[in-house]
Amino acid sequence: MANFRVNNILIPQELPLIALKNTVLFPRVVIPLIVQRSKSVGALDHAMAKDRLIFFVTQKNIEDNVSERDLFTTGTIGRIVSVFKLPDGSSKVDVEGLTRAKIISFTAKEPFFKVTAEPVLMKNGNEINLEEKALMRLVVDQFRSVSEMKPFANILPEIVYMMNQLKDVEQIISLVTINLNLEIQDQQHILETDRALDALKRLNILLGRELEILEAEKNVAKETKKQIGKMQKELFLREQLKSIEKELGVEDDRDEINMLKDKISAADMPKEVHGKAMKELNRLGKMPPFNPEASYLRTYLDWLVELPWSKKTKEKIDLKEAEKILNDDHYGLDRVKERILEYLAVQKQVGKMKGPILCLVGPPGTGKTSIGQSIARALGRKFVRVSLGGLRDEAEIRGHRRTYVGALPGRIVQGIHNAGVKNPVFMLDEIDKVGIDFRGDPSAALLEALDPQQNHAFSDHYLEIPFDLSDVLFVATANILDTIPPALRDRLEVIEFPGYSEDEKLHIARDFLIPKLYKDHGLKKNSISIPNSVLADVIRKHTREAGVRDLERQLASILRKVTRKLVETSSKRQVVLNSDLLHKYLGPARFSHQVAETQDEVGVVTGLGWTPVGGEVFSIEVSKMPGKGRLILTGQLGAVMKESAQAALSFARARAAKSGVKEDFNRDDIHIHVPSGAIKKDGPSAGTAMTTALVSLFLKKPVKKEVCMTGEVTLRGKVLEIGGVKEKILAAHRAGLKVAILPLENKKDMDDIPKEVRRDMKFVFAKTMEDVLKTALR
Ligand SMILES: Nc1ncnc2c1ncn2[C@@H]1O[C@H](COP(=O)(O)OP(=O)(O)OP(=O)(O)O)[C@@H](O)[C@H]1O
Ligand SMILES: [Mg+2]
Repeated sequence: MANFRVNNILIPQELPLIALKNTVLFPRVVIPLIVQRSKSVGALDHAMAKDRLIFFVTQKNIEDNVSERDLFTTGTIGRIVSVFKLPDGSSKVDVEGLTRAKIISFTAKEPFFKVTAEPVLMKNGNEINLEEKALMRLVVDQFRSVSEMKPFANILPEIVYMMNQLKDVEQIISLVTINLNLEIQDQQHILETDRALDALKRLNILLGRELEILEAEKNVAKETKKQIGKMQKELFLREQLKSIEKELGVEDDRDEINMLKDKISAADMPKEVHGKAMKELNRLGKMPPFNPEASYLRTYLDWLVELPWSKKTKEKIDLKEAEKILNDDHYGLDRVKERILEYLAVQKQVGKMKGPILCLVGPPGTGKTSIGQSIARALGRKFVRVSLGGLRDEAEIRGHRRTYVGALPGRIVQGIHNAGVKNPVFMLDEIDKVGIDFRGDPSAALLEALDPQQNHAFSDHYLEIPFDLSDVLFVATANILDTIPPALRDRLEVIEFPGYSEDEKLHIARDFLIPKLYKDHGLKKNSISIPNSVLADVIRKHTREAGVRDLERQLASILRKVTRKLVETSSKRQVVLNSDLLHKYLGPARFSHQVAETQDEVGVVTGLGWTPVGGEVFSIEVSKMPGKGRLILTGQLGAVMKESAQAALSFARARAAKSGVKEDFNRDDIHIHVPSGAIKKDGPSAGTAMTTALVSLFLKKPVKKEVCMTGEVTLRGKVLEIGGVKEKILAAHRAGLKVAILPLENKKDMDDIPKEVRRDMKFVFAKTMEDVLKTALR
């Protein structure tokens, strides 16, 4: 084969050959090479001495000693551009690929290979068709993408830039291939491809694959980075948290869960509750600490484990013992004690009480709360008290749902929690002061708690699991019955506390209040003597109440002052409380007792009234004056009282006419006045008093001053039953009245009246107005 030219360089027929390890030389590019092996060095020297042309062929393996068979047959004829001799005898050279060529034959093997070769020209290398052009652009584009995505690629930006300018397909193919970091096989394969189009197609595929790999790599890197970032952050926070917890002394979570688990199994819960508790505990265990919900859950679980699901105090009902305890704690109240003992007897007989709830009704300070405590003592049960006064929200009774911030169980469950047992005596204080408004009706929730039919499964919104209240002995207290919602009142067995007479108060003070106060003040029994007369003065002049709370307060005030004096003077002498000392300690008398009228008068009658704080005495005055026959009422009278005044007037006119009084009442205005105007008065029980006053006025007959009365009157003069007899009589007795006129039907109430009152006073029972007038008028 003849010599040929490439780029005007004459290529000789025989060429020295250098075997390339791990590199493929491509035409139209310059690459650096290290020439090291002796054969290669020989070939290089030979070429350098001649025309600098060498045939570079890649070897199929990476052996140092290669034979012909280890070489591919297609290679590239290259021209040495520069040589740099290194001290160890090897050289660094830059080679420019000129053209592809194929080995025809080996002409020498030693000292280096010599071959004859023929050039392999790119087919249709000069005429670029459209498809090629498109592919070329695509490949260049892909190459640029690869160069951008490969952070450490040794693809120089200049090459990418340059490639855009290139028109030569072969050069592009070469540049892309050598810069792609392809396997030797792949590079060789491209080198051997004759048609540019095929080479471009191949590159297109290879680039596509490369791009995919790079994309995946990028994602993995990103993900890894993210993962590492997150892990680091978590690690950091956890470390911080640990140190904070350590600082705060928070126990280890695991410990907490285990502790709660122990508590749950120790709490002796019903199955259902146990299941719920374990479920919530699981939830808590899975929660990251310091999740706000975790603290709610903890509180909830604390409630669950602390409630006495099955804890009870052992009850003993010994009626004798119970009676003794009741008597030890309270003076009098015989009827009350009797009712309580009956109640207990029934309970003992039945085992579990499913009857009505006791409701103690009476004025303040009459011992309702304290007798509740005695009931608990008598039964050997725990006592809890919950005040319902002013309660308007159903959630107060039944709790808030757990979703509320700061939610808690209602008062009932709280009370049980405080008691620590499921069978306490549970006092619902001031049940008459429960209100209804938009927040729901608390009495409905109370009903459920109190109703023996349903309270074995009382549902509290917070707990979410029913609690069994059927072992609880509920006792309610109230000052008045009227304001208790009817449905609730229906469930209650009312026991009335009517209030105490002066004599009873004296006993209570002497036997209960004073000894208790002595103890409270650290006084010895004989360090002070309080004569009965002085005690009576305290009761009469310094208190006005149905109960004994104020009395207790006044006595405490006296004892405080005595104690101070004893401590200051450190004298051992007994202090005798006389009226001077009393005046000094308590000041002037606060109350001058309502007393009976001092003389018989026309048109003035003493009536008896009832208030939530006990009975009261008031006088009714009537007068007439020229006018138009109007009825004028003053003194804060309620509607019912006004109506009964009308009825009284009608009756009195008829009665006067019957007695032959010839007067034209239609020309007189009648004025009825009930003094102590600040107090609102209502009810029909002033009927007899008003009628008597009017009849006295019309007949001009005076009313006896020592007489008082209470009773409702019909238009035809029938006297009807009224309430609050004991309180009224006690008030009359305090006022020094001697005769009380009562409706006949109230005779039954006389059992309640203390003996000394019955001794001091005379009682007249009236069936009609005539009976009243007969006794009252002079
Ligand atoms: N019969 C009694 N014997 C001995 N002490 C009594 C008697 N009645 C009341 N007391 C004493 O009077 C004080 C007041 O009684 P308590 O607090 O029980 O009144 P209450 O009826 O509950 O009043 P309120 O309606 O205002 O709640 C207590 O210290 C109580 O021990
Ligand atoms: Mg009370």
